[in-house]
Amino acid sequence: MSSNDVVAALQAVFPQAQILFPGSDDYHDRNESYLAKQLSDMTPSCIFQPKNTGEVTKFVQIVKPFALNGSQFAIRGCGNMPLVGLLNEIQLDNGRIFIGAGATWGAVNKVVHASGLGVVGGRSGTGGIGGLALSGGLSVFSSREGFICDNITEFEVVTASGEVIIASNHTNVDLFVALRGGLNNFGIVTRFVMSTFELGHFWGGNVLYFPSSFPNQIEALVAESEKSNADPNTHLMISIGYSSKMMGGVTACMNTVYYTKDVEHTPAVLEPFSNITPQIPQPGVPKRLDLLQMAASQAAGVTNQVRCLYMNITVKPDVATLQTASDIYTRNVEQVKSCGGLVCSLTLQPYPVSMLQSSVRKGGNSLGLDPSTAAVSVLLLTYWDDEKDDQVIRNTMRSTLEQIRAMAVENRTALDFIYLNYAADFQDPIVSYGAENKKKLQNVSRKYDPKGLFQKGVSGGFKLF
Ligand SMILES: Cc1cc2nc3c(=O)[nH]c(=O)nc-3n(C[C@H](O)[C@H](O)[C@H](O)COP(=O)(O)OP(=O)(O)OC[C@H]3O[C@@H](n4cnc5c(N)ncnc54)[C@H](O)[C@@H]3O)c2cc1C
Ligand SMILES: *[C@@H]1O[C@H](CO)[C@@H](O)[C@H](O)[C@H]1NC(C)=O
Ligand SMILES: *[C@@H]1O[C@H](CO)[C@@H](O)[C@H](O)[C@H]1NC(C)=O
Ligand SMILES: *[C@@H]1O[C@H](CO)[C@@H](O)[C@H](O)[C@H]1NC(C)=O
Ligand SMILES: *[C@@H]1O[C@H](CO)[C@@H](O)[C@H](O)[C@H]1NC(C)=O
Ligand SMILES: *[C@@H]1O[C@H](CO)[C@@H](O)[C@H](O)[C@H]1NC(C)=O
Ligand SMILES: *[C@@H]1O[C@H](CO)[C@@H](O)[C@H](O)[C@H]1NC(C)=O
Ligand SMILES: *[C@@H]1O[C@H](CO)[C@@H](O)[C@H](O)[C@H]1NC(C)=O
Repeated sequence: MSSNDVVAALQAVFPQAQILFPGSDDYHDRNESYLAKQLSDMTPSCIFQPKNTGEVTKFVQIVKPFALNGSQFAIRGCGNMPLVGLLNEIQLDNGRIFIGAGATWGAVNKVVHASGLGVVGGRSGTGGIGGLALSGGLSVFSSREGFICDNITEFEVVTASGEVIIASNHTNVDLFVALRGGLNNFGIVTRFVMSTFELGHFWGGNVLYFPSSFPNQIEALVAESEKSNADPNTHLMISIGYSSKMMGGVTACMNTVYYTKDVEHTPAVLEPFSNITPQIPQPGVPKRLDLLQMAASQAAGVTNQVRCLYMNITVKPDVATLQTASDIYTRNVEQVKSCGGLVCSLTLQPYPVSMLQSSVRKGGNSLGLDPSTAAVSVLLLTYWDDEKDDQVIRNTMRSTLEQIRAMAVENRTALDFIYLNYAADFQDPIVSYGAENKKKLQNVSRKYDPKGLFQKGVSGGFKLF
């Protein structure tokens, strides 16, 4: 059975304009719109763009026999895609927001902001919904509200049987919990429902500084993460990295800090992370800003079509471990500094206890994090220019992550959890959720997708079996 058969079957049912073929301008634009250039190397026989849930249903019914017999399809959100998509309707109704799966957080923010509201969404306005809302998702509001997936109150899903079902805390509850962390393993989500909250201005920004201050910043981050009464309005991220694109190549540090409540003066809790000397000169940070300004500033500097690689692990908030991780990282980066266009960083993000507990209060998810222990995520993010450097970058970063992990394991500061959105293809985030959670996810898959359509027939993501 060839892909021609499935394409012909789609063409028989859907308007020509919604099926894009290689060689057309529309296909070309979408092929060029991935953040990670490597994804453009996969060239699907066609790209189908559904307009509504009914069309997704029809699509699943048509492709199912093919996808259970050797062909594959992939599901794409709107991630960092500047093009106008479909299935992107957004409606605010009585404090709840209904979000079409093809929307961006920027579009969602615009709608809620116009009503003086906020939503537990992605930091970057150009990002899509699906990847974050189905896998965890860190929002600037996460310390207070939990992961993004925890704040989805309802999923509209097209399952393998081609039916549309609702998963919420009172209907298909097993699927509801599974989707909070289960990504594309159970169906195609066509609509997400979230609650909103009143939001005025808040505080934050990016602070640039020199590597000599990084050890102090690690200490401040650990101290803040371990406070039993840590302020849940705080969002912190500290990074050390190398950019070949600044000052002819420089190692520098950056803190991304937010305080998500409106107060009159710079919040004291941010001061250890913003009053750093010496500092790379920059206009006053943190600034008082609003949701749209925050999302725009986090989207600034994001370019599509670069080669990129993310990988990450979590460790306990331990100063020595984080300091050694930073040393291992900066030492290993030397090996790849000659790669054209290298921009890379080691980023530390705490998961405070307040955030993990708020996940539990909201009905739980599939991620399997222990709510009584704070954690710190260690993310290795790398961008580069040339395909010829793919292998050396990948090997170096993989070995760096393994060295950091081995060091943490030996010092008993390692944790199992791997955040799926930052995981590389050789990592297994589903196993990291814990054996019990994996079994639960497998059970939900057997119930809603007995033939394994989303296991065998869908490429991308991390599978359950
Ligand atoms: C600039 C930038 C900023 C970022 N900011 C944040 C941040 O603030 N917080 C954070 O946690 N992460 C952040 N990330 C990482 C981000 O979470 C991932 O890139 C995420 O997977 C993007 O989701 P997407 O839906 O846009 O992407 P896609 O690549 O389209 O989808 C990702 C995965 O989700 C599946 N999927 C998408 N939609 C659906 C659906 N409707 N139904 C079923 N499966 C679906 C896809 O099959 C795919 O496997 C950021 C990344 C970048 C580049
Ligand atoms: C599956 O594919 C094989 C080979 O491509 C083909 O011979 C067979 O008829 C297909 N089966 C079904 C059920 O479509
Ligand atoms: C998609 O983009 C990549 C990278 O730019 C290119 O190599 C590939 O040929 C493109 N594929 C199609 C079918 O246009
Ligand atoms: C279920 O979710 C609704 C909001 O969608 C909420 O009002 C309600 O309290 C929740 N119930 C339970 C049992 O969690
Ligand atoms: C996040 O979810 C819980 C309920 O599920 C709610 O208490 C909290 O206010 C939510 N926040 C938002 C804004 O959705
Ligand atoms: C444990 O951490 C220390 C830093 O305190 C580091 O020097 C050492 O390498 C780690 N132990 C091992 C054996 O990995
Ligand atoms: C993986 O890394 C990113 C970055 O820190 C983080 O947001 C995500 O939470 C990480 N995952 C884990 C496991 O912490
Ligand atoms: C999975 O399903 C099996 C069989 O129905 C059941 O015995 C088991 O308890 C389930 N496991 C989990 C973790 O839910």
